[in-house]
Amino acid sequence: MLQIPLRKLKALRPEPAALDRFERASVDELRAWQRARLAWSLRHAYEHVPHYRSAFDSAGLKPQDFHNLEDLARFPFTTKADLRANYPFGMFAVPQSQVARIHASSGTTGKPTVVGYTTADIDAWSDVVARSIRAAGGRPGMMVHVAYGYGLFTGGLGAHYGAERLGCTVVPVSGGMTERQVQLINDFKPDIIMVTPSYMLAILDEFRKQGLDPRKSSLRIGIFGAEPWTNAMREEIEDAFDMHAVDIYGLSEVMGPGVANECIETKDGLHIWEDHFYPEVIDPQTGAVLPDGERGELVFTSLTKEAMPVIRYRTRDLTRLLPGTARPLRRMEKVTGRSDDMMIVRGVNVFPTQIEEKLAAIATLSMHYVIELSREGRMDNMDVHVEVRPEADYPESRKAAAAELAHSIKSTIGITARIHVRDPESLERSLGKARRIIDRRPKDQ
Ligand code: DLL
Repeated sequence: MLQIPLRKLKALRPEPAALDRFERASVDELRAWQRARLAWSLRHAYEHVPHYRSAFDSAGLKPQDFHNLEDLARFPFTTKADLRANYPFGMFAVPQSQVARIHASSGTTGKPTVVGYTTADIDAWSDVVARSIRAAGGRPGMMVHVAYGYGLFTGGLGAHYGAERLGCTVVPVSGGMTERQVQLINDFKPDIIMVTPSYMLAILDEFRKQGLDPRKSSLRIGIFGAEPWTNAMREEIEDAFDMHAVDIYGLSEVMGPGVANECIETKDGLHIWEDHFYPEVIDPQTGAVLPDGERGELVFTSLTKEAMPVIRYRTRDLTRLLPGTARPLRRMEKVTGRSDDMMIVRGVNVFPTQIEEKLAAIATLSMHYVIELSREGRMDNMDVHVEVRPEADYPESRKAAAAELAHSIKSTIGITARIHVRDPESLERSLGKARRIIDRRPKDQ
């Protein structure tokens, strides 16, 4: 069953004794813990955050109405709009003097979303990130190159504290200065890199530009997240670096990176650290809770967070819940997109990851791409900009690749897309999360 085609990693499965209590606990034990913690979290939010008090009151509910896990479905959702309305600190459940750290998500429009942590929260966060790195194959003593951005973004510091907690040597590089990223990887010889998958591709290009063979680098494990990425991208990176590429998921509102992580031995979806974050999947239209296995919007309730508890936070990420495999904790399927990223083009729903899968199948195209949407009259147009691989940069291969991609998008997704095969390195590189969609259509229609 388990195939390990990559040569750089031997010891995969951690010793059971190295695992945290809830990575080994029975499902019954976990559910009992969740019931008790949910009761606490609902009470904590109600008693200390005016927003939750009024939201519960309007729904005619008190925290005491929660008895069983099913009762959670009666409580109101929390949305990004609620967080914005309470900007900056209105969602905090402790006085500011007890808030040890603040992070914020940039937010493309308007105010950022602000989140806060007590020292106990930072401790719990460090634990779940340490657990995530271990699930990805990381071990104490390994060196971790952190290329997630440091600062208000949770990626850099979240990864940093987790790697330290696991007992790793941390190299806090942050994002950007790609040449130097490659130099440091070459000189320091880290075992692990933590970075967005799209920026890893930029690092890969830089390796080649410097005439270095990425397969000979010291990197054995990449822990990639903060944006959707496909299994096709995983193959591309694993093959290019001869390394394992493992998925890490999280969001600032719920904690940051380390809400869920794949296990290296299975790579079959991300185990949710359910002892801290209680997941539900709902129908995004009706809000009804869906049974495990059905696709919908992921919703989280924090179980241990002190500074900023979140009750039924709607992530807008689309996935489904699956039973545990490498760990007893439930898995979430790889997130293929956010409801915000769903493009509706001539009535067809499409996510950037669907385009990514198609272009990955064409050997002459790189995986750097941008999708541009525009409107002529009442017609939507989709233009896909993608780079040719330098080694395949001939007029005829460009033409063939464009035709093949257009055909594959048309025949499987059902959209007529105009394909622009660009020069190598002509598309803008992200230093963190890639911006895949440029929507130039008028907003008011
Ligand atoms: O991106 C936290 C993070 C940092 C996660 C580093 C993983 C690694 P935000 O900036 O608040 O936090 O963005 C959260 O990013 O709701 C998803 O839409 C997306 N996202 C995060 N991880 C993944 C992933 C961080 N593994 C938003 N796959 C989330 C797909 C992801 N999407």
